[in-house]
This record gives sequence, C-alpha cells and structure tokens, in this order.
Amino acid sequence: MNDNQKARGSFSGHVGYILAAAGSAVGLGNIWRFPYLAAKYGGGIFLLVYIILALTFGYTMMMSETALGRMTGKSPVGAFSAFGSSGLHRAGGWINAVIPMLILPYYSVIGGWVAKYLFEYVRGNTAGAASDGFFTSFITSPGQAEGWFLVFAALTLVVIVLGVENGVERVSRIMMPGLVLLSMMVAVYSMTRPGALAGVRYFFIPDLSHFSWMTVVAALGQMFYSLSIAMGILITYGSYMKKNVDIENAMHSVIFFDSGIAVLAGLMIIPAVFAFSGGDPAALQAGPSLMFITMPKVFAEMGAGKLVGLIFFLLVLFAALTSSISLAETSASTFEDELGWSRGRATAVVAVIVAVLGSLSSLGFSSLSGVQLLGMDILDFFDFLTNSVMMPIAAFAVCILVVFSVGLSRISEEVRQSSKFRFEGMYRVVVRTIAPIFVLIILLSSIASVLGVLSL
Ligand code: TRP
Repeated sequence: MNDNQKARGSFSGHVGYILAAAGSAVGLGNIWRFPYLAAKYGGGIFLLVYIILALTFGYTMMMSETALGRMTGKSPVGAFSAFGSSGLHRAGGWINAVIPMLILPYYSVIGGWVAKYLFEYVRGNTAGAASDGFFTSFITSPGQAEGWFLVFAALTLVVIVLGVENGVERVSRIMMPGLVLLSMMVAVYSMTRPGALAGVRYFFIPDLSHFSWMTVVAALGQMFYSLSIAMGILITYGSYMKKNVDIENAMHSVIFFDSGIAVLAGLMIIPAVFAFSGGDPAALQAGPSLMFITMPKVFAEMGAGKLVGLIFFLLVLFAALTSSISLAETSASTFEDELGWSRGRATAVVAVIVAVLGSLSSLGFSSLSGVQLLGMDILDFFDFLTNSVMMPIAAFAVCILVVFSVGLSRISEEVRQSSKFRFEGMYRVVVRTIAPIFVLIILLSSIASVLGVLSL
C-alpha cells in the first residue's frame, strides 16, 4: 500500500478489495473494544443504535470516502487538495491523515496486552491468567506493560521494514476464518454457562431504560473506529480500487462482516461476564480491561482451555497486527506523499511517535498514573480524543467536501460506473443533512462532557 504515485497498484478485483478492506476493519476494535462498550453502555440498546448507525451513517461515510479515493486516485491530503487549494481543504485532508498516527500508539499498547496473554498461555499459566488481580498487577507494573508494548510495536515495524506485509496478509487470510470458527465455538461455550442467558438477553434485547446520550456518542465513535471511517483509510483504499468493482456491494459486505465479528465477540464475552459475576453491574463497567479479565476465566473452566486460550490469543494477535501494520503504513505514506520524505525517514518518524505516545499510554496505568487528562487515564484520553473529538471533525470535513466542493452528482457518477447505487436517496439525505448536523452535536456533547458542563 505504498509507492503511491509512482505506480499505483490496485486490488485484484471485487474479492481482493473486500478482503483488504475487511482485513483493515477487523481488529481489536471488534474483539476488544466493541464488547466492553456494549457492556458498559446498555447492551441491547447499544447494539441497536450501533447497527442503525452503521447502516445509515457508516454506509454513507464509507461510500463518500471510497468514491473520493477512486475518483482522485489519491490518499486523503491529496484527495482533498484535488478539489481546491484553500487552507480548509488542506486542514480537512490533514485531520484525516493525522488520526491513524494517534491511534497506532495506543493500539500497540493493547496489542502488547494480547501478546502478554499469549505468552502466559504458551507457558501454561492458565490459572494464573484467570486469577483476580492478574490483569491489574500486569498493567500497573511499568516494566511489564512497557516491555510488551515494545514487543508489539517492534513486531509491527519489523514487518514493515522487511517489507513482508503481504506475507502477513496471506497468513491472516487463513487466520481470519480461524478466528471466526474459534470464536463461534467459544461463544457457544460461554452462552451455555449457568447464568449466562441473562447476558445474552442483556446483549440482544434493547432496554430503553439503559439508553443515554452517551450510548449514541459511544456507538458512533465505535462505528468510526471499527469500520476505519473518518481517518482517510477508505480514501486511500478507494484509490487502489478498480473502476469495475461494485462499490456499494463492497461496502455492504464490509459492514456485514465487521459487525458480524463484533457481535460474535460480544457473545463470547458478555454472557461470560454474567456467568462469572452474576450480572454485577460493576463487572459490566470494567471498560478496556473487560476482555482480558473475562476470557481467561472462560478458558480456565473449559476442558481444553489451555489450548483454546493459546489459539484465541494467537488469532487475536494476528488480527491486531494486520490492523497495526495498515495503520503504520498509512501514517508513513502520508509523510512520503505529502512531505516528500524517503520511506526510511517516514518509518523512523512513525516509530518515534509510536514509542513516545505509546509509552505515555502504557505507563499511564503505573508510573504516570497520577497524570489524568480531563479525568481520564492517558490511554483512555487518546482513545477519546481520536474517536469522539477528531473523527467527528474529520467526518464533518468529508461531508462538506463532498457536498460543496465535489458535488453529489460527481459522487453518483463515480459510484454508478460500477454499482446500481440502490440507496442513493438515503445517501443524499444523510450526507447533506443528517451526518454533518449529527457529528457536530456529537462533537459538542463530547466537549461539553469533558468540560463538565454536561454529564453523560
Ligand atoms: N478498524 C480497526 C479495528 O477494528 C482499527 C483501525 C482503526 C484500523 N483505524 C484503522 C485498522 C486503520 C487499520 C487501519 O480494530
């Protein structure tokens, strides 16, 4: 996914595109982030809001970005400047381009947690990993947390420096179906634990009394994150898409696949929370630690838990790596394309950004635990900053660009080269009115909430 301008490669066609886009979409967002947000923000009502948003808003943003990319053949900064050279065009492109650089560091911290758990299962510490306090004592010991973060970050960079991304991608094409299969088995096991049914109900049956505005804010942020929207990724991917690939159909496949895996992960984790804690509301509020606390308990009870745990964390590690590689590639290629840097220099700068911001995030639970940014741990802060503040701005910029600079008719023309554009009516309404207004409201309420004006 580099060497952009020189000889811009392209995906081999419909299936090639979907595999690549789904590979970037499916990652820790689905397995780690979605279940803890669903647990925290209302279960069924969160799921419902998420699905509605993905099918309307998510669809619209994905179509816009992909069509822009395919039309211009450029990554975000170039795509924005193709329609004007004002400061606003540049700013719109850059905010999209900067987001992956801010996500990658803390993504690598979580990747490090996955690597640590894989290591525990490799050495057979099934009971230890499931014990109370294991997770907390891990992330609060600075050397451990920092060390595993560096292991994951180094893995990502080594793959990029050696230029073996394709190898990793090929392996992950086997790993991805493996992840789906294993998740199904584990989900069935989880759901059949005594007391787990209450969790299935909590996750599937919307209960309005659990609804709050925060449900919508969190669901929207999660949708951006999980579908890799509002950060220039789909613009870049669109630029590699051939003119005969059915854009609309491809977007639907990616949304379906990505949401399916998220739901599956929810079914592994949420029923297990109920089975092991009796539905204690505090357990549902665990946040980022949820997967790491809950899954080991499931494995500890399973017959072949040691093996299943090992395979599980290995598969998750691969899903995380393909995503982190693509985040790092995107960041590096922005520097190459826009600042004319060499590949080596771009990669080195990305490495420095990851090392500095990632260390802050990982040490935020130990040495730097005194540092609270707007009332959040450092890792939560970066997550909030990117998902709830910057991505709404980036999405707003894309909508404005599409409506005022590009024009909806040109988007339609681009899409219609290969698709029927069955949802064009909805697309037009959402991109023109609902999306921009809605992201502004989300943005303002996020800001208001951290300023303490509004408690969500
Ligand atoms: N969507 C990925 C996930 O669910 C995370 C992600 C966000 C990502 N932005 C990305 C992956 C850009 C690759 C490229 O985990």
